[in-house]
Amino acid sequence: MPNDNAQIVFSPSARAQQVRHGSRDSYAKMEQTRGFQADITPELAGFIAERDSLYLGTVSADGWPYIQHRGGAKGFIKVLDDRTLAFADFAGNRQYISMGNLDDNDRAFIFLMDYANRRRIKIWGRAKFIEDDPALLARLTDPEYPAHVERALVFTVEAWDVNCKQHIKPRYDDEQVAEIIAGQK
Ligand SMILES: Cc1cc2nc3c(=O)[nH]c(=O)nc-3n(C[C@H](O)[C@H](O)[C@H](O)COP(=O)(O)O)c2cc1C
Repeated sequence: MPNDNAQIVFSPSARAQQVRHGSRDSYAKMEQTRGFQADITPELAGFIAERDSLYLGTVSADGWPYIQHRGGAKGFIKVLDDRTLAFADFAGNRQYISMGNLDDNDRAFIFLMDYANRRRIKIWGRAKFIEDDPALLARLTDPEYPAHVERALVFTVEAWDVNCKQHIKPRYDDEQVAEIIAGQK
């Protein structure tokens, strides 16, 4: 079902570049047909459940972009409902750049990589940090994971898309390497 979420993904300048480089017609067709959905489908939820890290993009009041890595145990990003993600934010270097950016502008971006299967997903949305919701913090806390949870990051999805595999070199984490070795015995 098409929607107007393409406005989020394709700025007027991006569309102008598509015209200039000859890809506008096919993307206009894509906007008319599938568009960019905001709902967290079971497939997207399954992909998210396998992740142990993400890159969080935010923007300062001056428009400077910023990306920071966030990590945790596999599955640390929780799906709260069909439009909402959340994860625990751990004690860090106390620069609070992402927090400050979100105070000024709640637009945010999550980039998820699955190096082993060469998959990547980009998610546009609005995000906020929450410190005073003990039930939510408890839900996001993994007692086995060695980190101090300071707050929750709650992210409302506005559009998402899957990228192609191109130029992703497969990389494997220690668990995946152990599985591969065990399979060769
Ligand atoms: C002791 C300690 C030192 C850290 N030093 C750095 C650092 O120098 N640079 C950095 O980007 N992240 C560092 N980190 C990780 C960040 O603190 C963490 O990713 C935090 O979430 C960053 O949030 P922000 O980028 O929104 O300020 C450090 C974490 C800890 C616990």
